[in-house]
Amino acid sequence: MPMEPKQWIDVVEDKFKYDLDHFIIPSHYENDVQSILIPHGLIMDRIAKLAQMIASEYDDERVVVCCVLKGGHQFFSDLTRYMKKALNKQGKSLPMTLDFIRVKSYENDASTGNVQISMTDKELRELKGKNLLLVEDIIDTGNTMKRLLEKLSQYEVKSVKVASLLLKKTPKSCGYVPDYVGFAVPDLFVVGYCLDYNDIFRDLDHICGISDVGKAKYAM
Ligand code: HPA
Ligand code: MG
Repeated sequence: MPMEPKQWIDVVEDKFKYDLDHFIIPSHYENDVQSILIPHGLIMDRIAKLAQMIASEYDDERVVVCCVLKGGHQFFSDLTRYMKKALNKQGKSLPMTLDFIRVKSYENDASTGNVQISMTDKELRELKGKNLLLVEDIIDTGNTMKRLLEKLSQYEVKSVKVASLLLKKTPKSCGYVPDYVGFAVPDLFVVGYCLDYNDIFRDLDHICGISDVGKAKYAM
């Protein structure tokens, strides 16, 4: 990330990691991760706070909370569960519609540069006049989200905000910073909590750095 992270983003320092022996890792991934960056319990505690922050910034109007699949699914599921219990500006519960969009741009650990978006033109037109909150797992270079936002800007959406669980501190960043971020993470390929490497590791609860063994084993 080129700029200093904002004060409200929790930063996982580059050298900081938890010992693999101190948490439970599924046996099928024992050699495939090099470190634990964010244990599952910490992820959940941070999401509870994000849900409060997000809800408290909306009026009484309905918000379309849109999960960016596949990686955003776990974060979306936990975030919306907490948001249902949180209060908006008026001290009331927030009316939400839950929606899903599939976006794909990564193969192995690299962006293909080709962003595929699953929503049809008709579905995108239905967003006109609505408040949209996109829920993403990670902003890495930021190019995928930038393309998605560019596309959405053609459809007269009333407001668009982005919540991303992770923001990668990478020199390859295009400079895009989402409205809500759980953690800023080191420039490693991270997996777990639904973040994948070629669709593997979604069944790992902690957010971990993948090892070279893991990369080689599951390469396409
Ligand atoms: N991990 C998983 N998916 C990703 C990453 C990452 O580090 N960056 C972009 N998509
Ligand atoms: Mg993603």
